[in-house]
Amino acid sequence: MRDSSAHAADRGGVRMTRYIAAAAVLLATAALAGPDEVALPDGYQERFVNYLDVDRLDRNRVRKMYVSPEAHAAAQAGAPLPDGTVLIMEDHDAQIGADGAPMFGADGRLIALEPVVNIFVMETNAAWSTANETWDYAWYLPDGSPRPDASFDGCFSCHASRAERDYTFTYWTFLRDRAE
Ligand code: HEC
Repeated sequence: MRDSSAHAADRGGVRMTRYIAAAAVLLATAALAGPDEVALPDGYQERFVNYLDVDRLDRNRVRKMYVSPEAHAAAQAGAPLPDGTVLIMEDHDAQIGADGAPMFGADGRLIALEPVVNIFVMETNAAWSTANETWDYAWYLPDGSPRPDASFDGCFSCHASRAERDYTFTYWTFLRDRAE
């Protein structure tokens, strides 16, 4: 009796060890899978919802923010974003006048030049485990290729400062303002 229970305990121990090893491999894979897994969605400029444009006067840049339409339809103000939400921030240089100062449109906003300068993508996926829960990040060049020298530490740390808003800067407030 004592033998068999000791044996059972051993087997339990082995199972637990195996389980932990498997979990560690899964976690490592999830963490490594990160940026490579965050794809640039095809045709996002047509398919996604351009929910906001941000004028960055400090950088003479206009940032166009997009959200995946399925997530936009399901997202609720004040709640974690739906699994699979993709947010895109597309940078454009602003038009500069002959005097070197930025020009403004009739609406008082910066004027975005057509070319895209940078494409930042963040995506939440329930299967991922990252420093920012299930969010991961990617940075694409205008031709759609991943930026080769990109570092993602900054994405994680800076967006972590908005953990209570599901790691987003503008979309959370957009949803909140829309609900009011
Ligand atoms: C120093 C802080 C900082 C770092 C680093 C940073 N972000 Fe952001 N991010 C912001 C701010 C602030 C905004 C809101 C737009 C603005 O004011 O420029 C934003 C907005 C975004 C958005 C639009 C959705 C939202 O949350 O509003 C995406 C997508 C995004 N960032 C992706 C990235 C990616 C990818 C990286 C890394 C390559 C990154 N960010 C690095 C501060 C940061």
